Amino acid sequence: MFDLRVLGFGYQLRVKALARHLLPWSAGSMLLVVPTGLLLFIADPLALLANRVFLVKLGLILVAGINALAFHAGPYRHADAWSGRGPPVALVHALLSLALWIAVITAGRLIAYF
Ligand code: HEM
Repeated sequence: MFDLRVLGFGYQLRVKALARHLLPWSAGSMLLVVPTGLLLFIADPLALLANRVFLVKLGLILVAGINALAFHAGPYRHADAWSGRGPPVALVHALLSLALWIAVITAGRLIAYF
């Protein structure tokens, strides 16, 4: 939802106000998703470390994290000045974020088939 706002959807909503509302939930979800992922991992670590899709998924999570950090350290600092959608660099971060997290979830689902 936040990435769609950066792309210009729901432009009536101030970006930082929406961020204060949404981003704590997405950050908080890591407190559930990562420990459960680790629990799944320790159930069969050697097989998963030999699973290319699992390794790709971890790489995607790392890139998605770097993308989020670069966004918050970069264009997001000036979000109060945005009128509709964000500047081009913010749009790139938002599109990357959407693509990367959908890829992470898809990879997570595909692990069992490889
Ligand atoms: C950070 C965000 C993460 C997201 C969004 C995510 C998402 C998912 C999804 C959607 C699945 C498929 C669940 C299913 O088949 O019902 C999955 C499975 C799995 N995830 Fe994650 N995951 C994340 C992090 C991690 C981490 C950090 C690890 C381990 C280090 C991990 C390890 C696994 C394993 C082992 C499976 C099970 C594969 C299987 O046997 O089907 N995940 N994940």
